[in-house]
Amino acid sequence: MSKKIEEIKTILKKYGQEHLLNHYETLEERQKKELIEQIENINFELINTLYQKTKKEVKTQKDVITPIEYLDKSKLYDDYKHYENIGKKAIIAKKLAAVTMAGGQGTRLGHKGPKGTYDIGLDSHKSLFELLCDNLKAEGKKYGVTIPWFIMTSRENNKATTEFFEKNKYFGYQKDKNIFFFIQGELPMIDTEGKILIGEDGLIKLAADGHGGIYESLVKSGMTQKMKQMGIEWVFIGGVDNCLVKMVDPVLMGIAIEKEVTVACKSAVKANPQEKVGVFCRRNGKPNVIEYSEITEEMAKKTDENGELLYGEAHLLCNLFSVSAVERMGANPLPYHIAYKKATYLDKNGKRIKPDTPNAYKFEAFLFDAFGEVDDMAILRVKREEEFAPVKNADEAGVDCPKTARELYKKFYHLN
Ligand code: UTP
Repeated sequence: MSKKIEEIKTILKKYGQEHLLNHYETLEERQKKELIEQIENINFELINTLYQKTKKEVKTQKDVITPIEYLDKSKLYDDYKHYENIGKKAIIAKKLAAVTMAGGQGTRLGHKGPKGTYDIGLDSHKSLFELLCDNLKAEGKKYGVTIPWFIMTSRENNKATTEFFEKNKYFGYQKDKNIFFFIQGELPMIDTEGKILIGEDGLIKLAADGHGGIYESLVKSGMTQKMKQMGIEWVFIGGVDNCLVKMVDPVLMGIAIEKEVTVACKSAVKANPQEKVGVFCRRNGKPNVIEYSEITEEMAKKTDENGELLYGEAHLLCNLFSVSAVERMGANPLPYHIAYKKATYLDKNGKRIKPDTPNAYKFEAFLFDAFGEVDDMAILRVKREEEFAPVKNADEAGVDCPKTARELYKKFYHLN
């Protein structure tokens, strides 16, 4: 072990991260082993590069952004049935699986526990997980199949999530037969000096690597392999926090198959030019999403000859991928975006510091950054009131909160 420690010390010195072993001697044997493993797994070059990125001023955007074409589900006319039939056949042939990304921290909502366990206040008091599962079961029944369900958790919430499912008997699904859990990747958090933080447990302070980590985690965890063994060719990937998400959509699938694209995404018309959602666009000719923080007011308000917003197709995090596209995307690392967050840590004297203001950088990949990897994709505009009821904020915010989601859900399902 001591030889290993010496080697590790050399690496840490090279990268100015010697402090990571400051409390090593105070740790229990089990923790010592874990810390060493963590350090061995850190890509210090990547952390260095990411730290340099935090210091660079945001460059003025040189990308060429142009609008992207889409299909409107309510205006497909005769094509509707055609696409639907193609999609139905594939669903009946068990080629579709659903993936729910449930690894987020849900900081804005402020719920103690995984976001999927949140009860939005319906009379049934069903959790978001159960509402999603209800939808999967109802859709599966229509086609005489059980849609396999893959759930991405984070190291932080995996235990609480799987225990919740266990307690609820997997809502009628069968563990390891048609419901599978996998854990997303993580990256160390660093302070403003580029030093990796030590968390309260004496180990490296790690944070989930964003929903863009989905591709790599699906591949690394062996889930894509499993999907292929099960004969699955398509995966719908969505968030846990949209209680109206429609994971099984034969029209969307039919379009993807017929148009021979590997990604098909759903959009909804932006509620207003100021709405805080990303919108589909082309970036340097490739499909992409422009974030609300990135779009200029002028662009956000621009309309076409029909008076519709030129950049008005909101990205709902409702996307269908071919399994082979997921594998391809999982092989190429996505760029990381920087978030400045509050993170409790141990200082060099081993004292626990709980900051009141942001003190640390977290690095996240965004799922839509992989869209540029595909040759082309299809976008299907759906009705917001039928498919989008996000639970992002606490009720005080007044938007995208449990109250608004509950109202939308009740309206759609005609509940009182
Ligand atoms: P958001 O970024 O909108 O929500 O993720 P969040 O992380 O849950 O909440 P905040 O931002 O801390 O308030 C959208 C979807 O992506 C998943 C979330 O669980 C949610 O379903 N996600 C996000 C992950 O699975 N992993 C991540 O690292 C980030």
